[in-house]
Amino acid sequence: MELPFAESYKIKMVETIKKSTREEREQWIKDAKYNLFNLKSDQVFIDLLTDSGTGAMSDKQWSALMTGDESYAGARSYYELKETIEKILGFPYFLPTHQGRAAENVLFSALVKEGDVIPGNSHFDTTKGHIEFRKATAIDCTIDEAFETQKIHPFKGNIDLDKLEKVLQEYPKEKIPFICVTVTCNSSGGQPVSIENLKGVYELSKKYGVPTMFDSARFAENAYFIKIREEGYADKTIKEIVREMYQYADMMTMSSKKDAIVNMGGFTAMRDAELHRKASTFNIMFEGYVTYGGMSGRDMSALAAGLDEGTEFEYLETRIKQVEYLGDKLMEYGIPVQRPIGGHAVFVDAKKILCNVPKEEFQAQTLGVELYLEAGIRGVEIGAILADRDPVTRENRYPELELLRLAIPRRVYTNNHMDVIAAALKNVFDRRNEINKGLKITWEAPIMRHFTVELDKA
Ligand code: F0G
Repeated sequence: MELPFAESYKIKMVETIKKSTREEREQWIKDAKYNLFNLKSDQVFIDLLTDSGTGAMSDKQWSALMTGDESYAGARSYYELKETIEKILGFPYFLPTHQGRAAENVLFSALVKEGDVIPGNSHFDTTKGHIEFRKATAIDCTIDEAFETQKIHPFKGNIDLDKLEKVLQEYPKEKIPFICVTVTCNSSGGQPVSIENLKGVYELSKKYGVPTMFDSARFAENAYFIKIREEGYADKTIKEIVREMYQYADMMTMSSKKDAIVNMGGFTAMRDAELHRKASTFNIMFEGYVTYGGMSGRDMSALAAGLDEGTEFEYLETRIKQVEYLGDKLMEYGIPVQRPIGGHAVFVDAKKILCNVPKEEFQAQTLGVELYLEAGIRGVEIGAILADRDPVTRENRYPELELLRLAIPRRVYTNNHMDVIAAALKNVFDRRNEINKGLKITWEAPIMRHFTVELDKA
């Protein structure tokens, strides 16, 4: 008999989570102004808000914390991290930051100016926020297949090279500080980018004299998909694939809270010494001295250990198979989800489920609230609220997809939890035709409104 799949780790420490009643949840979500970010974590049974900073560190990472060096300048932990980044990603220069968006702030301060354009694949919201904050524009060049949730394509994070070349032809290179490639592409469903596509982007970037930047939050999951899906990579190790991916990047930003499995941390890395120098000034201003930049020494040591562990096949296989397990279960129940299933999350197609709720009443947010009411499960809206208003017209932007993202923290929940999530969503799905009313905004911030938006029943 063939042996079934099992996790590549055992559990040493556990944390209690609590169930609640529907009546309690009705009051809590009302008090939270129907914004799932406003809930207390104790009011949540299974928390799928994000896979960012919510992973369980390993025994090796916890022990690395104890050996961290807290010297202000030149800490041993900094050099450990520097060596690991050079070994795994191949960049000679880096600056530590407290998280991914801080890395964006540091790097973009050195590179992005008013009137610039930054082509890429569905830029993540903080990336877009840092671009628009500088009065520059993010141009989405993702392949069209990414927006058809039921269409199977192995690399839905790919950049459409024709769309990219048009942008490179239309604007002078002085107006394009870099091309931004997000691996995996969070906003289009945790979908990977192929090596072939990375190579194609890099060739165009060299042809037009514009550098390439990788937004690398889930780079290892991207490498896993290359190994599994791209011809010629099955026998390569994840570390070999990662090195190959980064041959096609001039610089990167990194939120270490995802694939490096730490609770806080990030960095930006580059090949160019001059850019490193320029960015260092901003790092010192916004984050901290160049050898700690917003991180404790112990956190840099745990991050170095996490980068090494997070690029091991056995770990990645366990991780991605769990996400697939949930996705397959939902599909078995007939629930429309983004296919193929992404690396870090299952994206539920709210537009196809809540057909009676108008888009102006935020279908994905409404579905998120319904799932919370059903079983205390917290997902996150990736739809019109996140898409925000157009910075010029101030009109609501309605993206092609209204998704509810169920992001799975790394090494935290078991497949029993996945079964509960699937059953709860099935219950909501079964009563979908009775849900006719969505939500309306009663207050919002001028930028990145989804974190703090206040809503009421429409
Ligand atoms: N880039 C991508 C692709 C991301 O997914 C994120 C964060 C960031 C950059 C910013 O990093 O949070 O460390 O400042 N994504 C989280 C999420 C918040 O839930 O997907 P950060």
